[in-house]
Amino acid sequence: MKKITVSLKDNKYDILISQNQNKFLSALKKAIKTNTFFIITDNNVKKVHLNFILKLLKKQGYSVKIAVINAGESEKNIKNLSFLYDKALKDRIDRKSCVIALGGGVVGDIAGFFAATFMRGISFIQIPTTLLAMTDSSIGGKTAINTAKGKNIAGVFYQPKLVWINVHFLTTLPIQHLKNGLAEVIKYALVFDKKFYTHIKSELTNGFLEDFDYLIYKCCFYKSQIVKKDEKEISRLRIILNFGHTFAHALETYSAYKKFLHGEAVAIGMLFASLVSLKLKLCSKKTFKEVKQILNLAGFKLHVKINIKQFFNLMKNDKKTISGNINLILISEIGKTKNILVKDNIILNVLKNFSGAKK
Ligand code: GLY
Repeated sequence: MKKITVSLKDNKYDILISQNQNKFLSALKKAIKTNTFFIITDNNVKKVHLNFILKLLKKQGYSVKIAVINAGESEKNIKNLSFLYDKALKDRIDRKSCVIALGGGVVGDIAGFFAATFMRGISFIQIPTTLLAMTDSSIGGKTAINTAKGKNIAGVFYQPKLVWINVHFLTTLPIQHLKNGLAEVIKYALVFDKKFYTHIKSELTNGFLEDFDYLIYKCCFYKSQIVKKDEKEISRLRIILNFGHTFAHALETYSAYKKFLHGEAVAIGMLFASLVSLKLKLCSKKTFKEVKQILNLAGFKLHVKINIKQFFNLMKNDKKTISGNINLILISEIGKTKNILVKDNIILNVLKNFSGAKK
């Protein structure tokens, strides 16, 4: 069992990495005083993990209500948010109830946003079931829904009261979704830790990664350190975690949230940011090649077909954009980044080189 405490200005909460359900139950009782839970999950997770959680809570005598949305990034929308408000009222969920986000990044984001806004905010906990959610999205309180023109455009920072990471849930996760999470793991290595990069690279060279407890712990550790210092992305520290994300969010929006999993888009986005870094002579050819190599080893598809003008406009909708200037996290060497406002002509030029698509 491993525990990381995320200490913030006004509150703190634990990330519990454990397969032991009793440890979870005692952490839950410590974190939340309630008798009623509102589980938000998706139709895939419902089939494989809902019963386990349901039984666990019912055995404690809790009242448990359930809301199920369809799986997929395109479901993180205003229609489903509205469905959740209606369902919660119908189920008599009140201010003392607690939301459980049981699922991957999509469920975590929409459930968190729901919890933050229902009756002006009720408590919530995260039980991530995917590698992506365990290593990144369930921690740090980013909650949101997408709009047609932008990913995570409506959202708030709202911290969970507890995050329970049980790697056992990964046993049912399809390989494509493990890879999806691997992109975020690689992001943490590229941004923070050359040794971690070397470790992942050698594991990938020898086959697929297996020590998920270790990978998850490393990512949670780095993320909690950053969130502690810059909970709301104000001091520009947390922004580092957006490496590859400006391109990725544009790609997800461009393809109507249907063609790429978030991690698949982030993988291409990290290559894009590294190519911009190379063009600006911020990093060496060697560093660029190192980024490309690990993404190739992980088996990510690194080419896309896009309409550059349309894509560029979507990139401008990014939340980090300042006075119309695209704001990218660039890489100077493995483990080191810089946050830079990049001129439009550079972005357009790299987009052209990158995608190989016609204007
Ligand atoms: N996924 C980036 C962040 O939570 O800040």
